Amino acid sequence: MPEKSWLFALKEKDLTGNSIEFVRVKDTPIILLKKNGKIYSLYGKCSHMGCRLSKGTFIDEYVLKCGCHGWEYDIRTGKHLGNKDATLETYQNKVEGGEIFVLA
Ligand code: FES
Repeated sequence: MPEKSWLFALKEKDLTGNSIEFVRVKDTPIILLKKNGKIYSLYGKCSHMGCRLSKGTFIDEYVLKCGCHGWEYDIRTGKHLGNKDATLETYQNKVEGGEIFVLA
Protein backbone atom coordinates (compact mmCIF):
# COMPACT_ATOMS: atom_id res chain seq x y z
CA MET A 1 0.00 0.00 0.00
CA PRO A 2 1.52 3.36 -0.98
CA GLU A 3 2.50 5.69 1.81
CA LYS A 4 -0.02 8.40 2.65
CA SER A 5 0.77 12.07 2.27
CA TRP A 6 -0.95 15.37 2.92
CA LEU A 7 -2.72 16.47 -0.24
CA PHE A 8 -4.64 19.63 -1.09
CA ALA A 9 -8.40 19.09 -1.08
CA LEU A 10 -10.24 22.43 -0.97
CA LYS A 11 -9.88 26.08 -0.04
CA GLU A 12 -11.24 26.57 3.46
CA LYS A 13 -13.43 29.49 2.34
CA ASP A 14 -15.31 27.12 0.02
CA LEU A 15 -16.49 25.00 2.93
CA THR A 16 -19.35 26.69 4.70
CA GLY A 17 -21.16 25.36 7.73
CA ASN A 18 -23.96 23.97 5.57
CA SER A 19 -22.20 22.56 2.57
CA ILE A 20 -20.99 19.08 1.73
CA GLU A 21 -18.22 19.43 -0.83
CA PHE A 22 -17.22 16.61 -3.15
CA VAL A 23 -13.59 16.56 -4.32
CA ARG A 24 -11.19 14.09 -5.84
CA VAL A 25 -7.81 13.67 -4.22
CA LYS A 26 -5.45 11.40 -6.14
CA ASP A 27 -8.54 9.99 -7.89
CA THR A 28 -10.15 9.17 -4.56
CA PRO A 29 -13.64 10.67 -4.10
CA ILE A 30 -13.85 12.49 -0.80
CA ILE A 31 -16.50 14.61 0.86
CA LEU A 32 -15.62 17.46 3.16
CA LEU A 33 -18.00 19.08 5.58
CA LYS A 34 -17.92 21.23 8.65
CA LYS A 35 -19.89 20.65 11.84
CA ASN A 36 -19.59 22.77 14.96
CA GLY A 37 -16.35 24.21 13.66
CA LYS A 38 -14.69 20.86 13.00
CA ILE A 39 -13.92 19.60 9.50
CA TYR A 40 -14.72 15.99 8.60
CA SER A 41 -13.45 14.17 5.53
CA LEU A 42 -14.78 10.82 4.41
CA TYR A 43 -14.88 8.60 1.37
CA GLY A 44 -17.30 10.38 -0.95
CA LYS A 45 -19.35 7.56 -2.40
CA CYS A 46 -21.96 5.45 -0.70
CA SER A 47 -21.10 1.83 0.06
CA HIS A 48 -24.44 0.71 -1.30
CA MET A 49 -24.40 1.69 -4.99
CA GLY A 50 -21.85 4.47 -5.14
CA CYS A 51 -24.00 7.60 -5.09
CA ARG A 52 -22.18 10.78 -4.24
CA LEU A 53 -22.69 11.47 -0.57
CA SER A 54 -22.46 15.20 -1.21
CA LYS A 55 -26.09 14.87 -2.31
CA GLY A 56 -27.06 13.48 1.09
CA THR A 57 -28.89 15.21 3.90
CA PHE A 58 -28.42 15.33 7.63
CA ILE A 59 -31.12 13.58 9.62
CA ASP A 60 -29.33 14.10 12.92
CA GLU A 61 -26.42 16.30 13.93
CA TYR A 62 -23.82 13.77 12.81
CA VAL A 63 -25.87 11.35 10.73
CA LEU A 64 -25.70 11.76 6.97
CA LYS A 65 -28.36 10.02 4.89
CA CYS A 66 -27.50 9.07 1.33
CA GLY A 67 -29.75 10.82 -1.16
CA CYS A 68 -30.29 7.70 -3.28
CA HIS A 69 -31.71 4.97 -1.04
CA GLY A 70 -31.29 6.29 2.46
CA TRP A 71 -28.28 4.50 3.92
CA GLU A 72 -27.16 6.38 7.02
CA TYR A 73 -23.61 7.09 8.20
CA ASP A 74 -22.07 8.68 11.26
CA ILE A 75 -19.70 11.28 9.82
CA ARG A 76 -17.42 11.10 12.87
CA THR A 77 -16.51 7.46 12.30
CA GLY A 78 -17.75 6.68 8.79
CA LYS A 79 -19.79 3.83 10.25
CA HIS A 80 -23.02 2.83 8.62
CA LEU A 81 -25.82 2.71 11.16
CA GLY A 82 -26.74 -0.94 11.35
CA ASN A 83 -24.25 -2.52 8.92
CA LYS A 84 -20.70 -2.81 10.19
CA ASP A 85 -19.47 -4.00 6.79
CA ALA A 86 -20.43 -0.74 5.10
CA THR A 87 -18.07 1.66 6.88
CA LEU A 88 -16.74 4.59 4.87
CA GLU A 89 -13.06 5.37 5.12
CA THR A 90 -12.32 8.56 7.02
CA TYR A 91 -9.33 10.81 6.37
CA GLN A 92 -7.38 13.03 8.71
CA ASN A 93 -7.39 16.64 7.65
CA LYS A 94 -5.65 19.89 8.51
CA VAL A 95 -5.90 23.53 7.51
CA GLU A 96 -2.82 25.50 6.50
CA GLY A 97 -2.78 28.91 4.91
CA GLY A 98 -6.52 28.82 4.22
CA GLU A 99 -6.33 25.46 2.45
CA ILE A 100 -7.64 22.11 3.61
CA PHE A 101 -5.38 19.10 3.21
CA VAL A 102 -6.27 15.45 3.71
CA LEU A 103 -4.00 12.56 4.55
CA ALA A 104 -4.65 10.14 1.70
S1 FES B 1 -26.37 4.42 -3.14
FE1 FES B 1 -26.51 5.22 -1.14
S2 FES B 1 -28.19 4.24 -0.28
FE2 FES B 1 -28.07 3.41 -2.26
